[in-house]
Amino acid sequence: MSDASDPTATPVGPDPHEEFPVGFFTRVDETPDTEFYDSDRFVTHIDDRAIAAVGRLYRQLGIDGAGPARSVLDIMSSWISHFVEPPAELVVLGMNERELRANRQASAYVVHDLNASAAMPFPDDRFDAATCCVSVDYLVRPIDVLREVARVVKPGGTVVCTFSNRCFPTKVIRGWLAINEQQRCHVVGQYFRHTGAYHEPQAALCTPADGLGDPLYAVWAMVREPEQATDGERPDDPGATV
Ligand SMILES: C[S@@+](CC[C@H](N)C(=O)[O-])C[C@H]1O[C@@H](n2cnc3c(N)ncnc32)[C@H](O)[C@@H]1O
Repeated sequence: MSDASDPTATPVGPDPHEEFPVGFFTRVDETPDTEFYDSDRFVTHIDDRAIAAVGRLYRQLGIDGAGPARSVLDIMSSWISHFVEPPAELVVLGMNERELRANRQASAYVVHDLNASAAMPFPDDRFDAATCCVSVDYLVRPIDVLREVARVVKPGGTVVCTFSNRCFPTKVIRGWLAINEQQRCHVVGQYFRHTGAYHEPQAALCTPADGLGDPLYAVWAMVREPEQATDGERPDDPGATV
């Protein structure tokens, strides 16, 4: 049974994570993420061309300082968020406090382990958009996390996941390592679809397909309006069929 007071609780019905192959969301290193990310990593995880592609994409999607989005959440963040021009407010959420504190584009930071709990400490509709850069592959319950992101982003807001082909192999989910780059775009699209909280996702390769440098893929979708009852029937209507 789901807990109605917990917005991240899996809705009544089958757990969509179970539609993926057995072991898809397991990892070589199943120790708490707090241990792995306690070490500072003041590095870039993709090359300069891929970083530039992230910034361009954010601009095209209207979620950086030049666009209408004023308040943006960057989940699984570190010391760098890749905006060409940051939005008026950028809240970064991740595991390593020293890295987050050093993020010069951030207005505020939150240390939070999304694999321990998808529930984030923000009210509904708190942000205009959200980003997750080169990190979705570390989530063991990504559908719960994307459903929770949809709760804290306003309807109509864009949520974008970008990824490349590099990773910490012991912390990435096994399923990610078993599929190719095109399949990863499909899988991330499926994460969005399974939440039921977004319009149809879109995907793009944002770097040239020239085999030079790190590729940068993006999958993004807009948060839907909360579910409207149709045909005048409401779930608690004694006359409704359920
Ligand atoms: C490859 S780095 C990417 C960092 C940053 N987004 C970037 O573009 O450079 C992966 C990031 O995911 C964050 N992360 C990993 N596991 C996490 C978890 N369970 N909850 C929240 N953040 C996590 C780490 O703190 C780390 O900064």
